[in-house]
Amino acid sequence: MNIVTRPLSDDDLDRVCEIERASFSMPWKREDFAALIRDNNSVYLVIEADGIIAGQAGYTDTLGDAYINNVAIEESYRGNGLGRILMEALIADGLSKGILNYTLEVRVSNTPAIMLYESLGFECAGVRKRFYEQPVEDAYVYWLRK
Ligand SMILES: CC(C)(COP(=O)(O)OP(=O)(O)OC[C@H]1O[C@@H](n2cnc3c(N)ncnc32)[C@H](O)[C@@H]1OP(=O)(O)O)[C@@H](O)C(=O)NCCC(=O)NCCS
Repeated sequence: MNIVTRPLSDDDLDRVCEIERASFSMPWKREDFAALIRDNNSVYLVIEADGIIAGQAGYTDTLGDAYINNVAIEESYRGNGLGRILMEALIADGLSKGILNYTLEVRVSNTPAIMLYESLGFECAGVRKRFYEQPVEDAYVYWLRK
């Protein structure tokens, strides 16, 4: 597979929304992604496999810390290392801008994502009770400090 990561553009929104809807019970809307493209404090990347968008992830620079959100790989592409490549690309982008701290939330039951984040060096810093809806579930808060 030829793997490329690059910034999200308007032409990608149909595909990104499709992956988003299939991955999350409360998906972001098209206008949410469109706004991110225009937000100077946000970086949103897609990952392409042989020219097809296979996933997406982004961060917002919040007072110097990167708040990572909506990490998703389309189901048929999972387990091939794409999630790791995408996260590494996101963190490399942040480091190039001098961002040293990265944080995210994850459902406590989401073992694949937890394993991915821990393998990248993220450490669990606490729990947000009943953070998620549909279904209601606690979130682990993770931080990576470079
Ligand atoms: C979490 C997600 C992005 C991982 O993407 P992926 O491309 O499948 O992950 P990778 O193939 O890069 O795997 C990287 C690491 O994650 C962990 N991992 C991935 N899938 C796993 C699974 N099913 N079980 C356990 N660990 C898993 C492993 O540590 C793996 O490293 P290894 O291959 O050296 O063992 C993907 O499963 C996904 O999109 N899930 C649905 C959306 C979601 O839950 N996003 C996270 C919200 S916080």
